[in-house]
Amino acid sequence: MQSDDLQPFFEVFEDTPRQGPGSVETTRRALGLLPRWLRVDRVLDLGCGTGGSTLVLARETGAHVTAVDFHPPFLATLRANAEAAGLDQRITTLAADMADTTALGSDFDLLWAEGSAYSIGLENALQRWWPLLRSQGCLVLTELVWFVDDPSERARAFFADEYPDMCDEATRIEQARQAGYRLVDSFRLSAADWHAYYAGVERSLSAAIARRGQHPVHATLRREREIYEACGDEYGYVCLVLQRDE
Ligand SMILES: C[S@@+](CC[C@H](N)C(=O)[O-])C[C@H]1O[C@@H](n2cnc3c(N)ncnc32)[C@H](O)[C@@H]1O
Repeated sequence: MQSDDLQPFFEVFEDTPRQGPGSVETTRRALGLLPRWLRVDRVLDLGCGTGGSTLVLARETGAHVTAVDFHPPFLATLRANAEAAGLDQRITTLAADMADTTALGSDFDLLWAEGSAYSIGLENALQRWWPLLRSQGCLVLTELVWFVDDPSERARAFFADEYPDMCDEATRIEQARQAGYRLVDSFRLSAADWHAYYAGVERSLSAAIARRGQHPVHATLRREREIYEACGDEYGYVCLVLQRDE
């Protein structure tokens, strides 16, 4: 799945602290919304990237976390960070396609997917991941959604190319319900998460351009930031805390 076309994209994100908007505070806030009685011993972090959420999950829950991503260099960084934090005994990395659920295990108490479910299609992810959970287990995900009914032409045109399947929060919640989850809670990610993300991307982009010269992927990333700066009140990430309904 990793064509040469994706390499310049991965190169930028190998050097960023996170690969999508998010933060320690956001991961902790979502953890705080899980049902109090939920026992969390086994966690699966899907599309974990370099593990921004993985380390928080291992530290805060005390559980064993299996962290899955199909880009091995991300997992190498995660392992180094886990070791530095003394968490390596409780984190297992798995280089795998998160759409191929046969390789991922089952009976997890908690599935986690920050900014990653969209890449295999959100509805597809909801359906495929349901059997990975034990009865009443939880799925926490973040997803890019429209906040307004009538987005500007500029934002609409950008996402028609970049994320044609993007819809609003209510639609995603209904899709989750149809896939067999109930909504426990939800919240919108903060502007601070976006700013930290773009600060990391900009640093890494400048270094990548200095190293290898301009690539169309670099222009797309810069355009994405410009759209956010101009139209960022029209869309954003929502965090959905879901529970398997049986
Ligand atoms: C937007 S990044 C989010 C990374 C991380 N969760 C975070 O919040 O920083 C999406 C991640 O999903 C991974 N990914 C995308 N499609 C995947 C697939 N089919 N199987 C496994 N990993 C995938 C990418 O390599 C990337 O690390």
